[in-house]
Amino acid sequence: MILEFEPLSNNFGARLHGLDDGRVLDDGLINELRSGLIENGVLLLRGQEISPARLVQLGRAFGELEILPEPDKRHPDHPEIFDLTNVRKDGAVVDFEEPQAVFLRGTERWHTDSSFREIPCLCTMLYALEVPESGGETQFANMYAAFKSLPTSLRNEIEDKKLVHSYVYSRANNPGRMDPMSPEEESKYPPVAHPWVRTHADGRKSLYMGAHVSHVEGMDLNEGRALIQEVLAGATEERFVYQHVWQANDLVVWDNRSTLHRLRPYEITERRRVMHRVTVAGVDPVV
Ligand code: OGA
Ligand code: MN
Repeated sequence: MILEFEPLSNNFGARLHGLDDGRVLDDGLINELRSGLIENGVLLLRGQEISPARLVQLGRAFGELEILPEPDKRHPDHPEIFDLTNVRKDGAVVDFEEPQAVFLRGTERWHTDSSFREIPCLCTMLYALEVPESGGETQFANMYAAFKSLPTSLRNEIEDKKLVHSYVYSRANNPGRMDPMSPEEESKYPPVAHPWVRTHADGRKSLYMGAHVSHVEGMDLNEGRALIQEVLAGATEERFVYQHVWQANDLVVWDNRSTLHRLRPYEITERRRVMHRVTVAGVDPVV
């Protein structure tokens, strides 16, 4: 083992040691990173200046990188990097209701990235360039532990159910105002049903849900939504959560297959929060 994983809190998440800048990412190291992510759910690499090129390299250790559709938000030299920032191109901080701010505030709901896709992404990486003095933390919830702790009756109730995830739905329910999508746009994002309880390659089970979820398949709409709320409230109790308080030069990687996350509010129109984001494409359908 080259890498060391130091537990963060609640037995969830780990700080990574031994991945010095410039270390060659050979197969051995890649395997350690991948299994470290599966085991810990969240990885933190602290205090290293990571260039855009190195960030792309680190992302590729986990798989193929996604290129996000909005060209204007891509890093000019590295299209795999998405500029996740509340600072506009003109250097000013966003207004509360402008699309960029509304998009960012949308991530304040518990979610897992791109769960509205047939094959959702595997993991996401955020590298902090500038962070606010207070607020703007990111919370992660451990869906393995949350599943295990469910009362047996509740577990039995949801075990064979599917949730319908829909980008059209989650966008329409964004707490900020967004322009409605055209029917052509909407047709690009058909709803998909995924098992509520995921079974991973190693046999472990976790909950799979979050803000893209519209309803429980085959269940009365309101009863299903009440059940979703009940399970989500239990699954995001403090005992399952690691709250990441950002420092500049932090790199955080999270496993979207087995965790939920959300941004905590900050003074989005006052303080700068500038991140580089890399998304690793998924390979396996949700089972
Ligand atoms: C994301 C996300 C949260 C944050 O990039 O997918 O949810 O803390 N970000 O910026
Ligand atoms: Mn997210």
